Amino acid sequence: MNIERTFDLLKKILEDSSDDLRRFFYEGVKRSYEKKDLTMIYHYISMLSPDYYGTDLFYTSDGYYKSYPNNPRISLPKPLEKAGTDLFEVIRSRKSRRRYSRKPLTLDEISTLLYYTVGITGRTWWGGPKRVYPSAGALQPVEAYLVALNIKDLSQGIYHYNPGEHVLERLKEGDYGKILEKIALDQEHVSEASANIILTIVYQRTASKYGLRAYKYALLDTGFAGQNIYLVAEALGLATVAVGAFYDKELCRLLEIDCEEEMPALIFPIGRRS
Ligand SMILES: Cc1cc2nc3c(=O)[nH]c(=O)nc-3n(C[C@H](O)[C@H](O)[C@H](O)COP(=O)(O)O)c2cc1C
Repeated sequence: MNIERTFDLLKKILEDSSDDLRRFFYEGVKRSYEKKDLTMIYHYISMLSPDYYGTDLFYTSDGYYKSYPNNPRISLPKPLEKAGTDLFEVIRSRKSRRRYSRKPLTLDEISTLLYYTVGITGRTWWGGPKRVYPSAGALQPVEAYLVALNIKDLSQGIYHYNPGEHVLERLKEGDYGKILEKIALDQEHVSEASANIILTIVYQRTASKYGLRAYKYALLDTGFAGQNIYLVAEALGLATVAVGAFYDKELCRLLEIDCEEEMPALIFPIGRRS
């Protein structure tokens, strides 16, 4: 979120607040300073209270998902409609799996994974998309990218998933496995996988309604989408793990995104179980 808007917002919150609430913010920031803990500042200013609920803020949306209309597109097959696995069993057996075989994934599997991670299932009453994951204000800040390493009928490269058209948009071709491994603090499972799905957050989509509360909401939204990857991979008999340890700036550079507008949240290496 643009810093001036953030501070304007903070000023507005403080001006509109009761004395009690102002004191509460002030005490929180002071304690944060005393403890030398910056996260507490955010913790305080993002709290809702009966005095402050951020719905009267500016409301803009960039259209719920990104698209790259000028990039080469690869259409995806229809996602599977049934997994043939019991949901409760999938939840029970889910675990982080970091060992992958060298056998390629198929486009059917990739299509199914991407669709059931962030895909569109219908329309809201005001005409916006509805997703497979719940989203604060239905603002849907999560974007999905695919780093293809070993997928049958798909060249190696980095792609953006366009959920509106259920297509991949190619950002660049090449083998980015080792580069991604380095970015992920040398975690080998990243380059040994056949693909990596990377979830990012377009923060402004949620902040346009929720202001400073959005950091919390957008990360929660991403957690819901991330759990979908775990469960779908499990249902398909594949292996995955959430990877949160990575160098943010380097990952933004790889995805060619602006780290201030869109933040990488999680990497999911995916492969066949070995
Ligand atoms: C936010 C988050 C970040 C994580 N980051 C990593 C990571 O960088 N590397 C890794 O191997 N596992 C990572 N994990 C996976 C955890 O280590 C794993 O979920 C935990 O050990 C529990 O095991 P389980 O998933 O099999 O239940 C992460 C999990 C979460 C939720």
